[in-house]
Amino acid sequence: MLGLDNKVALVTGGASGIGKAIAIRLAAEGAKVFITDTQVALGGEVASEHGVSFLEQDVSDEKQWPEIVRKVEEVAGRLDILVNNAGILGSADANPENTTLADWRKIFSVNLDGVFLGCQAAIAAMRRAGGGAIVNIASITAHMPTSSIVAYGASKAAVRQFTKSMAEYCARQKLNIRCNSVDPGFVRTPALDRGYVDIAKASGLSIDQIMAAATARIPLGDYTRAEDIAAAVAFLVSDDSRHVTGAKLLVDGGIIMD
Ligand code: NAI
Repeated sequence: MLGLDNKVALVTGGASGIGKAIAIRLAAEGAKVFITDTQVALGGEVASEHGVSFLEQDVSDEKQWPEIVRKVEEVAGRLDILVNNAGILGSADANPENTTLADWRKIFSVNLDGVFLGCQAAIAAMRRAGGGAIVNIASITAHMPTSSIVAYGASKAAVRQFTKSMAEYCARQKLNIRCNSVDPGFVRTPALDRGYVDIAKASGLSIDQIMAAATARIPLGDYTRAEDIAAAVAFLVSDDSRHVTGAKLLVDGGIIMD
């Protein structure tokens, strides 16, 4: 009962993992949902199975954003909600010495440029709609050292920082646009599973051993589910959070506690 009827939402990276769960939840709350992704076949499947619309997009491509927003407005008349979820982990064996500048830039182009471009495009659309809500998916890695995923951690810390600047700007400009981040802990998705394969290769540990070590770090004792992230996002885009902006909502089983 979050009152998302008649709201129009755009979720990037919605073909898989957390983004897919967010799209399903927002649609269940009554929103008209558009997902975008680079994975066309998977995006189409999610769209037809869950009653959402799919648009192909690379979030790091500046030229594509105005066109995506134009298509959403053409079909649905407005844009009320943007969830900047698309992100890449890169190799999970990426320390300050073996990370190349090309790796670094690739991760920043999706995780940070994509969020910046999405927010910029959304401000324009949400001005036309009279307001809106943006959620950026950051990470617990924004709040801790991440010596084996250095570019990823730095990009997520920057997403968190940019979220606060966006929130302040939109509030001071009286745009009626709120901007918050949801910062997930460990969520079993294709991205995390690929990361575990890298860690296994680098460490000689089995996937089971890696998972047991990760679980031991979670005070609540089990992995965060994609649906847990979706519930936090649903709250932050609803009017129930009308006075929440610039906040981070850690959904991590208590790893960070901040
Ligand atoms: P995932 O790999 O399962 O899903 C990400 C989706 O984004 C994929 O469908 C992928 O095709 C899409 N994508 C990648 N690059 C794109 C681009 N340039 N343009 C458009 N779409 C693109 O990953 P997951 O785990 O669902 O991650 C979603 C978000 O959650 C990411 O921002 C990630 O950094 C964040 N996150 C995930 C955590 C986890 O434990 N799985 C923990 C903390 C944050």
